Amino acid sequence: MGIHNSTDSGLKGHMRTHHCAQLRNEDVGKKVTLCGWNNKYRDLGGLHFVDIRDKNGLTQLAFDEYQGDLDALKKMSLESVIKVTGTVRRRPDSALNKNMDTGEVEVAVEEFEVLSQAAEVPFLPHGKISATEDLRLKYRYLDLRSDKLQRILSTRSNAMKWAREALYEEGFTEVETSILYKTTPEGARDYIVPSRVHPGKVYALPQSPQTMKQLLMIGNTDKYFQICKCFRDEDLRADRQPEFSQIDIEVSFATQEYIKNLSTKIVRKLFKLDDNFEIPVMSYQDAMRDYGSDKPDVRFGLKHHIVTDLFKGSGFKVFESIIDSGLNKAIFVAKEHKEFSRKETDALVDVVKPHGGKGVAWFKVNGDEVSGGISKFVTPETLKALRELSGETGDGTFFFCADSKASVAHASADALRRHFGHDLNLIKKDDYKFLWVNDFPLLEYDEEDGRFYACHHPFTMPKVDRLDDFMSGDPEKLKGMPAEAYDLVCNGYEMAGGSLRIFQTEVQKQMFKVLGMGEKEVSEKFGFFIEALSYGTPPHAGVAFGFDRTVMLMAQTDNIRDVIAFPKTNAATDLMCSAPSTPDENQLKDLKLKLN
Ligand code: AMO
Ligand code: AMP
Repeated sequence: MGIHNSTDSGLKGHMRTHHCAQLRNEDVGKKVTLCGWNNKYRDLGGLHFVDIRDKNGLTQLAFDEYQGDLDALKKMSLESVIKVTGTVRRRPDSALNKNMDTGEVEVAVEEFEVLSQAAEVPFLPHGKISATEDLRLKYRYLDLRSDKLQRILSTRSNAMKWAREALYEEGFTEVETSILYKTTPEGARDYIVPSRVHPGKVYALPQSPQTMKQLLMIGNTDKYFQICKCFRDEDLRADRQPEFSQIDIEVSFATQEYIKNLSTKIVRKLFKLDDNFEIPVMSYQDAMRDYGSDKPDVRFGLKHHIVTDLFKGSGFKVFESIIDSGLNKAIFVAKEHKEFSRKETDALVDVVKPHGGKGVAWFKVNGDEVSGGISKFVTPETLKALRELSGETGDGTFFFCADSKASVAHASADALRRHFGHDLNLIKKDDYKFLWVNDFPLLEYDEEDGRFYACHHPFTMPKVDRLDDFMSGDPEKLKGMPAEAYDLVCNGYEMAGGSLRIFQTEVQKQMFKVLGMGEKEVSEKFGFFIEALSYGTPPHAGVAFGFDRTVMLMAQTDNIRDVIAFPKTNAATDLMCSAPSTPDENQLKDLKLKLN
């Protein structure tokens, strides 16, 4: 129970004397008052017991000395709020409960009051909850009564406090920025708010405070942070919400090394790591080569091996057809980990399908013998080359993901590796493995749209030694150009992301041009920002932690809704208050808006 912030200085005026997880043997004989919910009522042949529950835990109440009316007790529904006063006594030896913090004692009730009789609740928020997630979201305030969600809220609160402490120790200033603002491109759609005073005009809710924190650097703030809300209208997933929180950071005159050291300090505080803990660095290129992902889960091995050229002349059409333009990646699973049945290897296609993969080829190797799957295409020379290239010399199964699109081969082999990681129990539950991934590409070229998109956001500095190439605007030089951008990855999650920023007007103008924005659009959307850059801008860099994801990792849950007090569904709705909802006619009239 230590996780809750349940100690206090004893300010007078509270209804209770103790919380419900507080009483111990040394309190025996004390007169106490407890307040909380009726968690359980038992009538053992005229002996009445109640478990009273609050945020902190449970205490057993015994009514054998109670002189008042027992009717009120018998009529009291589960989840009613009660207040009791009585004397702490030791439980008989036969009734001691080692699984309960207060299991050595009980309160012999003298005064008892139902403060709020509860209507029948749609589900009980303690013990094993069988309600569907939708029902729990509709009655979120009931679900919040559970120990699990209260523990996570406390974890979140502690995380905020520790992050603040770390940043204040380093001389940061906490600054709030605007919520009603203008587009801040982070790659999603904006949520917009129509203006009543300026009909036809809208504010945009910030996708992040990116431009504002850069303006704070131009404005002499030096070291800024904020724990803030960001709003993004994008496809939601298990680790994404339309409004989420960041620990947002920006620092003037900082290098990547400073931002990494600062992030390390925050990680040490939040995850209670030693002072000598450092985050290993991996380039984006190496991460893609070895894991097919820019956020690899490095709690387990099963690295990828690039084997595209090995199958030249093998006769296996699938592999030969992609040699010139595609990619073939192999994963080896040693016999000690698992020996696969035919049914199991056949089912692997379902793991790669959602990523565009067309199949998973495989064969088994035992000493010099190959068998099963595509073994008839594997000559002794191919096997030897494969063993040399991969360093996998034991017995086991080789698996392959090939595709004419490198991105599909990477994504399929990544999915396959993660599948094996879970399936073969290679992941220790309370293990945390952090990674600093850097040298991300600056731009992504979209063949269909025939244009570049920013990989991080359009304020990210091209790799400094490639600045001339960037300014040349030559598309061939722009393709694959690295950026001064980095991510902090933990257990396969992108926990934070940031970059060094463009601080020269000309470079920023060139970036908007490369992204296909005309001068008019740039001037309307970002004219003020470009102008600001021209009045003396310090080089600056920053990072933003996805705060909800950070708390997910601390609390070891893979559902982002667990760590947000009032979360939205994957369809961006709030089931509790039914948002979004239809506006009043009058509101629309005020805004001079017509809805279709
Ligand atoms: P980025 O877009 O990478 O960078 O976001 C930073 C971190 O925020 C988290 N995150 C999300 N969490 C929950 N739901 C979402 N929809 C969501 N989207 C992002 C991720 C991510 O690592 N302004 C830049 C930061 C910078 O350059 O300093 C930015 O917002 O954990
Ligand atoms: P086929 O010759 O199409 O019957 O495929 C033979 C084996 O190759 C099967 O195990 C398929 O799952 C596998 N396979 C098909 N396409 C691919 C691919 N793109 N990458 C890896 N294996 C594949």
